[in-house]
Amino acid sequence: MCGIVGYTGPREAYPIIIKGLKRLEYRGYDSTGVALQNGKGVKVYKKKGKVAELEDAIVGKDLHAHVGIGHTRWATHGEPSDRNAHPHQSSSGKLAMIHNGIIENYAQLKSELINKGYQFRSDTDTEVLLNFIEEIKTNNNCSLEEAVRVALKRVVGAYVILLVDADDPDTIIAARKGSPLVIGVGKGEHFLGSDASPMLEYTKEVVYVNDYELAIVKPDELILKNLGNEKLTPYVQKLDIELAAIEKGGYEHFMLKEIFEQPQTIYDCLRGRLDAVAGTITMSGIQQYADQIVKANRIVMIACGTSWHAGLVAEYIFEELCRINVEVEYASEFRYRNPVISKGDVIIAISQSGETADTLVAIETAKAKGAIILGVVNVVGSSIARASHGGAYTHAGPEIGVASTKAFTAQLAVLTMMALKIAYIKGSVSHDRYMHLLNELQEIPEKVAWVLKHSDHIRTLAEKYKDARDFLYLGRGYNFPVALEGALKLKEISYIHAEGYPAAEMKHGPIALVDETLPVVFVATRDTYHEKVVSNMQEIKARKGQVISVITEGDDMSASLSNDIMIIPEADEIVAPMLSVVPLQLLAYYIGVAKEQDVDKPRNLAKSVTVE
Ligand code: M6R
Repeated sequence: MCGIVGYTGPREAYPIIIKGLKRLEYRGYDSTGVALQNGKGVKVYKKKGKVAELEDAIVGKDLHAHVGIGHTRWATHGEPSDRNAHPHQSSSGKLAMIHNGIIENYAQLKSELINKGYQFRSDTDTEVLLNFIEEIKTNNNCSLEEAVRVALKRVVGAYVILLVDADDPDTIIAARKGSPLVIGVGKGEHFLGSDASPMLEYTKEVVYVNDYELAIVKPDELILKNLGNEKLTPYVQKLDIELAAIEKGGYEHFMLKEIFEQPQTIYDCLRGRLDAVAGTITMSGIQQYADQIVKANRIVMIACGTSWHAGLVAEYIFEELCRINVEVEYASEFRYRNPVISKGDVIIAISQSGETADTLVAIETAKAKGAIILGVVNVVGSSIARASHGGAYTHAGPEIGVASTKAFTAQLAVLTMMALKIAYIKGSVSHDRYMHLLNELQEIPEKVAWVLKHSDHIRTLAEKYKDARDFLYLGRGYNFPVALEGALKLKEISYIHAEGYPAAEMKHGPIALVDETLPVVFVATRDTYHEKVVSNMQEIKARKGQVISVITEGDDMSASLSNDIMIIPEADEIVAPMLSVVPLQLLAYYIGVAKEQDVDKPRNLAKSVTVE
């Protein structure tokens, strides 16, 4: 979802901004633009389409500037078009602004401005806020910084805004509420971004701006204030990411690279935490809350999309091992439902990006009601990580492909460790089972590598099934959420309609869809429910559906009932989802590629959903 970049310093701003925007392309967008400030005024260039199209369109223009801001827009108010693209310019033409978020009371502000004679060139809420700021600046004859502060006190909604002013040639004013903003601190220069990727080759020193903070950014000065105009001390942190982590490294797509990284990312996630010999799990961000979790009335998992599926797997694991009641909530529903939260409730917020607006607001809601918030987050320093009392990072490294893959398996690894740790403290798991599961977890990276060795076979299946109109994904128990995740991956990447269902529930409706044209993907690995799933396979077979199944090595019975199989090695059912999801990720990827879709940036999707 919208990406923002800014630069002020001695270098040429345009190449830094364009490169930064390309790094943020993964977030999803439909138009792009830059505003360049060269001391003689602010020049704005913007266009519907990709960053490369903007570059082509402005070849030969005067792009010289040492200060600039750039934007990739994911349309909310107004269709994707040149005129709705950011940056927007104020009525006087002196101010230019980019914005990530939604101004909910824009209609009210717009009508006030129209009554004062303002006219608008776009359909966006951004242009309204910009002119509102300019109106305050002109009327009160105050600085831009002051006008922004006053304006933001009236704004309802979420935003990161970056502004440049023709009258203040080397300054960028930035402010944030609800959407991410990182400021990179260089020597005599500053970089701004929705995340750290645009600034990685220039600096590793960053400041994460918090909600209700405003930054006045000059080449050699960074002033941070709250909306009450009090100065704050910027907290400079060191980034622990290398440039290679955000590049494709020889793979055709980021998604494929990230699927293949999973043996390493799961290993990284377990490393330093799990010691299968000593029988210990060390999670410093959980330790402090272990007692409260053990005594919790219930655990509520809050998340969206793939992270929500990780929460569903964790529900089965926590209930089985810890004997604590678990509920899994869509953040978007939870936040508006006036949920009942009691003091002993523990919230686990799961998010790859750590910036998902619904999840962030949902945990703020629960926090206000006295719950303990534990974050399971991938992006270090992100908003959800900072809003949580404790938790654990997933350490999967930057995930650039819009379809979440390695973040999911890392989330499962973290959640499984958390459940085991709590179960052990609580005494709800036997010592033998605990030790067995530690060993099972430790073997997962190697077993994922084994599954990946069979990727060529899955590519062949993708060719065979790529023209199907619909897919049904079925699973029971721990594999039911895996079926949901497989279906989500396929629809995101290939645009084929796919539905995930509990295998038994299929008889209560979806079975009506089954005929010889419908591929039905069973996640049918050997577990407690295996015989039941085999019966469900037979029900599909009897109706001539095409059965494709993910099975455990050596399961001849399931193989004989399937038109095609994808194999995983033997594993305990608690850790098996980290394996059974991998063939489904590959199947979705190869079908997407076979259909010539843009698998890393599927249409309409955003990597980080920073609006509700
Ligand atoms: O960053 P988050 O984990 O909070 O994101 C949640 C969802 O937006 C995300 O999982 C989405 O469903 C992905 N596109 C799934 O592949």
